[in-house]
Amino acid sequence: MRILSGIQPSGKLHIGNYFGMMRPALELAQTGEAFYFIADYHALTSVENPAELRRNALDVALDFLACGLDPGRTVFYRQSDVPQVTELTWILANLTPVPMLENAHSYKDKITQGLKPNAGLFTYPVLMAADILIVQGERVPVGKDQKQHLEMTRDLAGAFNRKYGEVFRLPEASIRDAVAVLPGIDGRKMSKSYDNTLEIFGDEKGTKKKVMGIKTDSQPVEAPKKDLDQNIALQLYKLVVPAEKANGMEGRLTAGGYGYGELKKELFVSLMDYFAPMRQKRAELVKNLDYVHEVLRKGAARANAEADKTMQRVREAVGLR
Ligand code: ADP
Ligand code: TRP
Repeated sequence: MRILSGIQPSGKLHIGNYFGMMRPALELAQTGEAFYFIADYHALTSVENPAELRRNALDVALDFLACGLDPGRTVFYRQSDVPQVTELTWILANLTPVPMLENAHSYKDKITQGLKPNAGLFTYPVLMAADILIVQGERVPVGKDQKQHLEMTRDLAGAFNRKYGEVFRLPEASIRDAVAVLPGIDGRKMSKSYDNTLEIFGDEKGTKKKVMGIKTDSQPVEAPKKDLDQNIALQLYKLVVPAEKANGMEGRLTAGGYGYGELKKELFVSLMDYFAPMRQKRAELVKNLDYVHEVLRKGAARANAEADKTMQRVREAVGLR
């Protein structure tokens, strides 16, 4: 089975990215042939500073490798090293109904957040479809917010196949319900754009401050706590400790006399422990950037070979050859 996913280098990766996309993707990569890439063309829709884009792309490469991506098994590359995707984007754009793009939640959200409605932002889902279809991805591990983009990809692949003959497989999103939407420290979806994230590789002091600032209800320390399923700190805690520890914490909170401050301190320590091995791996990778660049070069060569194969069929199918 061919697995594919991408992540934008548009800022520091956070634990919503990790639990919602990276960890499921890394687990899925062990069951098939995975293609994971750094979506730097996509990041142009929000990152305007060239040095920042370059730095972010390298950061994502380091983060992914530190979190356990095995480049011996997974093809890992930068999107812009496969410029054929822009050609496929153009071809698919001619099959894309404008109302479909106008209805994209992600586009509407970004406009609401103040991004300018330019053609790059508008056609973002078509480029994403091209990313997936150009390597014939079948399973796409993503967070829930990408579900609609996957539906559009299937629509475009289907439209292409009906018009020009079967070229594309229809990909399926792979979304883990348990972590489909991780809350941020303010209770909204954790997202770079809301400044409510806990970074995977954030510094200790800053992370502690953010953890202690997680929004809670106002039940007093002595009270046996109710509505724990709404508690953001507990929800995050459950992700980074084994089940028995999480049950113990829930027990203490329900019994009363145990406050949210204690919970948050425990969360901070457990969060640091959980990501400690990855932090160490990342520190080693930073000292060996040649290795990181070599991984991306090899990945690009593999991805290019796949893209060329697909594009040859596509060009013939549509009459460009
Ligand atoms: P952000 O919202 O911070 O800009 P991205 O849109 O770059 O994050 O998302 C990268 C990947 O991480 C996507 O697959 C997305 O669905 C997933 N993801 C992002 N935020 C969350 C979250 N809060 N919970 C679960 N998954 C998430
Ligand atoms: N749009 C995705 C996000 O914001 C990133 C992405 C680009 C992607 N191309 C993709 C994800 C192809 C999966 C498959 O998270």
